[in-house]
Amino acid sequence: MSRVESIVGRDVADLAGKAASEFVNLAKISVEACGRFVVALSGGETPKSLYASLASGEFRSKISWPRLHFFWGDERPVSPDDPASNYRMAFEALLSKAPVPEKNIHRVPAEHAPDVAAGRYEKEIRDFFGLPDLAWPRFDLVLLGIGDDGHTASLFPDSDALRETRRLVVAPYVEKLRSHRITLTLPAFNRAANIFFLVEGKSKAAIVRDVLRPRPGSKQLPAQHIDPQDGRVVWFLDQAAAALL
Ligand code: 6PG
Repeated sequence: MSRVESIVGRDVADLAGKAASEFVNLAKISVEACGRFVVALSGGETPKSLYASLASGEFRSKISWPRLHFFWGDERPVSPDDPASNYRMAFEALLSKAPVPEKNIHRVPAEHAPDVAAGRYEKEIRDFFGLPDLAWPRFDLVLLGIGDDGHTASLFPDSDALRETRRLVVAPYVEKLRSHRITLTLPAFNRAANIFFLVEGKSKAAIVRDVLRPRPGSKQLPAQHIDPQDGRVVWFLDQAAAALL
C-alpha cells in the first residue's frame, strides 16, 4: 500500500512551484544515490506550469539535466510534431529549454500504428532498465493528471487496459475519444518510487473528492488503481481542485 499525501497550492503557480521543489529534491537524491533520475512525464494541460517552472531560472540551475532520462506515461497516436502530441508539449515547455541529451529523451514512437508503437516503446523501456521478461521498471518519478471521469494517463473507465497484468505498454481503443491511445499499464506505474498527481481547477474538485474520499460501495475509478506497492503518491492540488476535500 502506498503512502498518499496531498499538497495544496494557492493557485496554479504555487502548485507548480511546490511540485518543482519536490522534483528538484527527488532528482538530487536519485542522482547522488545512483547517478540518474528516470521520469515518466504526463500529457494534458496541467503539467505545463510545472514544466515551465522547471525550465525557469529558480529551478533549472538546481537540476543535473544530463543525468535525467525522460519517458512518457502515455501518448496520443500522432506524430511528434502534431499539436496533440504529449511529446511535443513537453519538448516545447521543458526539454527544448534544458540541456537534456537527445539520447535521454525516450518518446513513444506514436507515428507508427498503435500496437507497433506500444511494442517498440515497451522494448525501449525494457532495454533501458535491462529488464528480463516479466520484470517491471521502477521509475523514480511518474507524473500523472486526472480527467473528470477519473481516467489517468490513458487508462479510462471500463478499459481492458486496466486488467493488463503482463505487458508494460498497451494501445487501447478509447471509445469516448474515438481514438487509440498508447499507455503504460497499471503494473508499470505501480512499481514507481514516486507518483505525482498534478490537478488544478474547480472542474476537477468533484473527481478529486471521489478519488481521495470515495463513498462506500462506489465504483473504483482508474486513478484509484494507482497504488504503488513500495512507493509514495503525492497529490499536488490548487485550492480550487481541493475545494471538496
Ligand atoms: C493526456 C493525459 C491525460 C491527462 C488528463 C488531464 O494524454 O491527456 O495523459 O490523462 O493527464 O486528461 O488533462 P488536463 O491536465 O488537460 O486536465
